[in-house]
Amino acid sequence: RCQSTSMEKPKTSKRNLLDNASNLLTNFLTGGRLGDMPTAEGAVSDLFGRPLFFSLYDWFLEHGSVYKLAFGPKAFVVVSDPVVARHILRESAFSYDKGVLAEILEPIMGKGLIPADIDTWKQRRKVITPGFHSLFLEAMVKVFTDCSERSILKFGKLLERQNSETKEIELDLEAEFSSLALDIIGLGVFNYDFGSVTKESPIIKAVYGTLFEAEHRSTFYIPYWNLPFARWIVPRQRKFHSDLKVINDCLDGLIKNAKETRQEADVEKLQQRDYSSLKDISLLRFLVDMRGVDVDDHQLRDDLMTMLIAGHETTAAVLTWSVFLLAQNPSKMRKAQLEVDSVLGEKKITLECLKKLEYIRLIIVEALRLYPQPPLLIRRALKADKLPGGYMGCDDGYAIPAGADIFISVFNLHRSPYFWDRPNEFEPERFLTPKPSEGITGWAGYDPGRSPGAMYPNEITSDFAFIPFGGGPRKCVGDQFALLESTIALALLLQKFDVLLRGSPDDVELVTGATIHTKNGLWCKLKKRT
Ligand code: HEM
Repeated sequence: RCQSTSMEKPKTSKRNLLDNASNLLTNFLTGGRLGDMPTAEGAVSDLFGRPLFFSLYDWFLEHGSVYKLAFGPKAFVVVSDPVVARHILRESAFSYDKGVLAEILEPIMGKGLIPADIDTWKQRRKVITPGFHSLFLEAMVKVFTDCSERSILKFGKLLERQNSETKEIELDLEAEFSSLALDIIGLGVFNYDFGSVTKESPIIKAVYGTLFEAEHRSTFYIPYWNLPFARWIVPRQRKFHSDLKVINDCLDGLIKNAKETRQEADVEKLQQRDYSSLKDISLLRFLVDMRGVDVDDHQLRDDLMTMLIAGHETTAAVLTWSVFLLAQNPSKMRKAQLEVDSVLGEKKITLECLKKLEYIRLIIVEALRLYPQPPLLIRRALKADKLPGGYMGCDDGYAIPAGADIFISVFNLHRSPYFWDRPNEFEPERFLTPKPSEGITGWAGYDPGRSPGAMYPNEITSDFAFIPFGGGPRKCVGDQFALLESTIALALLLQKFDVLLRGSPDDVELVTGATIHTKNGLWCKLKKRT
């Protein structure tokens, strides 16, 4: 498991003049700053053609679990080691902020949790986390079920209208999951029904426009949008600002309404409310009603916008890749369907049922392992730090200067041959393997004993070898929300339909922005189960 830190530099075969020039500049600007860390020299051409995280994986296998990626006039540290990831995310969490990511997201999310500076983050995290309490999540089960059933009903109707012999429909399931996740996040976070499964509207278009721009900014390397007047001169920037205004106006209206109907209560009281009698069970209601927290409307809007963006595409992507993987593994799909049949029968889903849908839960988790959303976590050192040697035995560790940009490659960790047997295979059962011995780093099993209340394997059971929701203080606030939502949506889909890919899996091209998604949709054939 020990990897040498003094491996030869990679030999880049198709280097062009531009790449050579940029590498010379890089070495000049960054030489020595990151010490004797192994160096992968990225060619500019590596930025195009295929998602960057694939190249980061190849370099991980070549250079080890902590290496420096020199790209143009910039160097990034790429981390693929659980001990080093744990250090950055948990032990030394406040020595880092979100760096480039915050710069990209700040125009959209303002001071929402993801890009927030540490002081704002500390205040808001304390207020938002209690909102995801257990009764809220239990009440959400009904919202997840109702919304998923709306999608299933739509598919059923499309099938009924289908006259052909085959009795099957073709659908872009990625687009359908995106609509479903949008409807759910709207209802759960601010009690607004986008109704996007069945209709289009200016607000829905504005949300997609904004997501599209966020993706554009995270994959376009020259931030021209910061130039003076760009927002008025560049058509796509004009559109982006008008989309933002549509969403902000909608959120402002919802916040005003929630504040006008405020019923103050202490956090404990709010967490014990009888959700079955509430008309509005949203997180916004909770945040507005919380006694002693008089948050200004602007901050609240940033919080809602952040959760709208953070909770929408991510969940849709998990469902997309779960189906993609299952469709290539008919026996696993059958096994999942039999589990759903035996647990649900004709019953409505409850939290108790979810506890029994173990295989469905592990499919979701395995999809998150193979296609983590986002594939990279981004950090910038606020002050000098020392990275630990790491599990994979990289000498004494590395000094990190203030200002260094770091990518924690979740993709590399999740597909690391050092921690996973057959790392690229889809095997939900792998999480059921018994723990080899106490305290082994990298064991990514499913262990409610080690992490009480856990229905899903997580970063604690794996000691940071499996970090689909990050870890430490800035771990995802919506992890349980997302996991329950995806489990329900997948169970209800498989209960009613057999799903096949329309073409070959190789035709499904990957692209990536904040999440890994398909280039042209996940086109599937749906057949009603008999
Ligand atoms: C943060 C993943 C769903 C809200 C994060 C982070 C990850 C993540 C990896 C940590 C980012 C970092 O450390 O840089 C996911 C995945 C989801 C999901 C894979 C779906 C499967 C949601 C949902 C919500 C949400 C449904 C809200 C309802 C947030 C927020 C943060 C966050 C607010 C920032 C937390 C902080 O900095 O304190 N998410 N997320 N996420 N997520 Fe999620």
